[in-house]
Amino acid sequence: MLQFKLVLLGDSSVGKSSIVHRFVKDSFDEYRESTIGAAFLSQTIKLSEEYDEQVLKFEIWDTAGQERYKSLAPMYYRNANAALVVYDVTEPDSLPKAKLWVDELKEKVNDDKLIICLVGNKLDLVSERESTSLVDEADAREFAQENNLLFHQVSAKTGENVIKVFQDIGERLYLQ
Ligand code: GTP
Ligand code: MG
Repeated sequence: MLQFKLVLLGDSSVGKSSIVHRFVKDSFDEYRESTIGAAFLSQTIKLSEEYDEQVLKFEIWDTAGQERYKSLAPMYYRNANAALVVYDVTEPDSLPKAKLWVDELKEKVNDDKLIICLVGNKLDLVSERESTSLVDEADAREFAQENNLLFHQVSAKTGENVIKVFQDIGERLYLQ
């Protein structure tokens, strides 16, 4: 079985742990505790026929977004094959933070094969918010395109698109 190390980065409360729990346990918790340090989980997926029905195992490091843990992040992204850089579509300040993580990965990770996926989470809340209080989707998309990142918008709450993120990353990893 192919194994890949994947790290999640992004501001506190954007929903990194919630995305991982949706992917690994297919569950969601309205009152999830903020992560301390980092958490480790793993999950396998099977790619489609087009990708030879290859089974991949993701070893997932879910980092803590609170500022006080920022210095720990390099330990987790150092040998990563893939990174999910997460922002909250209802929290405009979280996109610039995500961009800083992408810059840091590009500067510090010495592996041009690192797959980075920019992920906008909490898509389920978009319909109930004024568009002026949301992250500008075009801005996020453009940044992803310019930096050669995969891009997805998801909801850990409803599960929308969560598997797609890991399938997409898995396909890229399998092909390289
Ligand atoms: P840190 O561990 O502090 O870095 O935060 P985190 O990025 O892991 O965020 P976490 O998964 O703990 O989620 C923060 C809060 O947002 C929790 O109360 C979740 O229930 C909520 N949440 C996460 N994902 C979603 C989502 O897709 N939709 C909605 N409505 N709420 C979400
Ligand atoms: Mg967390």
